[in-house]
Amino acid sequence: METEKKRGFIFACTNKSESTLLKNLIFATNRIYAHRVSAIRKGDYLFLYNLDTDVIHGTFRAKSEGSYGSSIFGDKYPYYVEVEPIGKIISRPNASKIFKKLNISWKDILTTKGAELLESFISGDKLFIQISTDGLVDKSFKPPIFSTTLWDYPTQSYGDTPKGDNKYPGVTPAFIIYNLIHRYTEPGDIVCDPMAGSGTTIDVCKEEKRNFVAFDIVPKRSDIIQADARNLPLKDSSVDMIFIDSPYGDNLRYNDHPLNIGHIPASDERFFEELEKVMNECYRVLKYGKILAWLIGDQWAKKIFIPVGFKVYERLTKYFEPVDIICIVRRNQYSNTPFWHSQAIKHNFYLRGFKYLIIVRKVQRMRDKNNIKIKWKYYER
Ligand SMILES: C[S@@+](CC[C@H](N)C(=O)[O-])C[C@H]1O[C@@H](n2cnc3c(N)ncnc32)[C@H](O)[C@@H]1O
Repeated sequence: METEKKRGFIFACTNKSESTLLKNLIFATNRIYAHRVSAIRKGDYLFLYNLDTDVIHGTFRAKSEGSYGSSIFGDKYPYYVEVEPIGKIISRPNASKIFKKLNISWKDILTTKGAELLESFISGDKLFIQISTDGLVDKSFKPPIFSTTLWDYPTQSYGDTPKGDNKYPGVTPAFIIYNLIHRYTEPGDIVCDPMAGSGTTIDVCKEEKRNFVAFDIVPKRSDIIQADARNLPLKDSSVDMIFIDSPYGDNLRYNDHPLNIGHIPASDERFFEELEKVMNECYRVLKYGKILAWLIGDQWAKKIFIPVGFKVYERLTKYFEPVDIICIVRRNQYSNTPFWHSQAIKHNFYLRGFKYLIIVRKVQRMRDKNNIKIKWKYYER
């Protein structure tokens, strides 16, 4: 078996937390850096950086994978890893100068080369040596956590292992699920995908230590259960998040199953009626206060534009409370060719450049909510 490459992670601390972390040999952090902790594997290189004093301590090895739960700081910093020093712990001042020299940030995930170079800078004064800073940061290992409503990532998958099957029609870009999981769930939560296709959701969940339950009308792998998304074999209020990348109409051929909703064109209102049954079922199985995220794109076919995204949003908000809408940049689409670009200009239409990621929350029935009388307070002008 090929041994996994070791990576480097720098934990930040302050004067207040430094001694507790070093004494207990546990590095812990909060939700903002949760995605980095979940990337840590046993054996990875670790460093501790004091933001107050600009001192870096090294080098440590991860004794276990990154974990979640109550640790030395109780629930305040629940994302943690147990560490052990590799030899003598060296504490080096002026860490920001080393970061500058290596062209890295303490928030980066370092490659083996990056981690080893940082280690050698900590253990000896090499600041004057000329070095190449290429390949020190591992940018493809995990996608970024997006902070705006525009999400763009160059590839369908990321990291060392495939996520889903990029040959599957309409395969979901894995970074979308990665971002949702880190925003809206904790390790151990159950994520449901009612239309799982090639299983991208499953692969992301496994790596990020989430439990999953995945269905499709035609399962492509043994960890997907055969079921109709309009009638899921799940108890009421039993899952912590739902991600769904449904058909956008009949533009892609997934399979010949008669119950495949992707046989109905988006120009036929029945398409939205069937999707609404899926929404109703998602409402039933999702826990209160939890998130459903629905990926959907518009259609322009046979000179007709159908705002599929708006229509899905409209129906979703009959059941759920809106949380946000993310614009997902479409990449590597079949139509991204010189031929299709010239056709779009010649015949005056647009190629689809984005999809909607509609994020909603299960609260009390929106119908009931709409009946709530709000007592507005009016002020004299
Ligand atoms: C866009 S694909 C999902 C892609 C998937 N997320 C992936 O990354 O591979 C839509 C899926 O919906 C499934 N589907 C269509 N009608 C369904 C139904 N009634 N119940 C369950 N799945 C259905 C199709 O078989 C197809 O796999």
